Amino acid sequence: MWRHRDLVGIEGLSADEITHVLGQAGSFFEGSRRQAAGPRPQSRNLSGKIVVNLFLEPSTRTRTSFELAAKRLGADVVNVGGPSSSAVKGETLLDTVKNLEAMHADIVVLRHPASGAAQFVADRVDASVVNAGDGAHEHPTQALLDAFTIRNHKGKLSGLVVAICGDILHSRVARSDALALGKLGAEVRLCGPRTLMPVAPESLGPTVRSCARIEEAVAGADVVMMLRIQTERLQGPMLASSREYSRTFGLGERVLALAKPDAIVMHPGPINRGVELDPRVADGPHSVVLEQVEAGVAVRMAVLALVAGSDPVAAPGSESLGAPS
Ligand code: NCD
Repeated sequence: MWRHRDLVGIEGLSADEITHVLGQAGSFFEGSRRQAAGPRPQSRNLSGKIVVNLFLEPSTRTRTSFELAAKRLGADVVNVGGPSSSAVKGETLLDTVKNLEAMHADIVVLRHPASGAAQFVADRVDASVVNAGDGAHEHPTQALLDAFTIRNHKGKLSGLVVAICGDILHSRVARSDALALGKLGAEVRLCGPRTLMPVAPESLGPTVRSCARIEEAVAGADVVMMLRIQTERLQGPMLASSREYSRTFGLGERVLALAKPDAIVMHPGPINRGVELDPRVADGPHSVVLEQVEAGVAVRMAVLALVAGSDPVAAPGSESLGAPS
């Protein structure tokens, strides 16, 4: 079922492969919840393997959850990045990864500001590469954990209406989510200020369309996903002001009332409270933001095990994590 050595993007995955990852993640998720109160036995899927988290852009959730996921699978984990790495001394990305490979890294989890960085490295090294976000291109594990969270709440993805609102142009989350949710049969509505919309959002899939107003995107939606303005990727002033943005494209209780009564509200984090999301909605009964974070560990366990060539369900020790026998 899983044939990939790397996970660079959702673009290269079929609907069946996405569903397979979600199924594997489900086993880890159940096990983690059951054992949350007690000791946490490790699975040994990645025993003896070295996972390097190479993060050359800021991250809290993604880096931490990859680290926890790899440790729970029994891997040796090393974190590289930030001002302490030699990237700031002018070393090329490929040299950095080749050096990590010389220390027998099996999996490199890469976050990088350049779109295409993960594919570039994957084409040139033997280690598995997992894309943890490359510029404005893709963030596949975020899309997988979002799909997982939606399915947990709604029982399915096919036929659901998902509104994704914010800085669509610069968001790797919007791209990966639209691709994944579209492949799984959801209708995806992309919405943002004209200056922050891609030229042809419909190219992301036959069920993807754009909406000029947030009210139109949210009307009757099952899921409303809000995104941060990617200020680090804006080229010049592309917005009048954040107050104006929040008034026209922010999600508050008035706009949320247009969605289905049981709609869920999502955000990949970090939230800019009061800009794209009213704190009352972020902390309100529709919000599943922290469930997304919880799902992130299980989804990343599944992805790491799969790229390492280990079937999480069949592997010895996986029962201890709640996988079906
Ligand atoms: C996102 C990212 O880095 O692309 N965050 C995340 O990984 N959870 C979204 C963002 O930074 O706005």
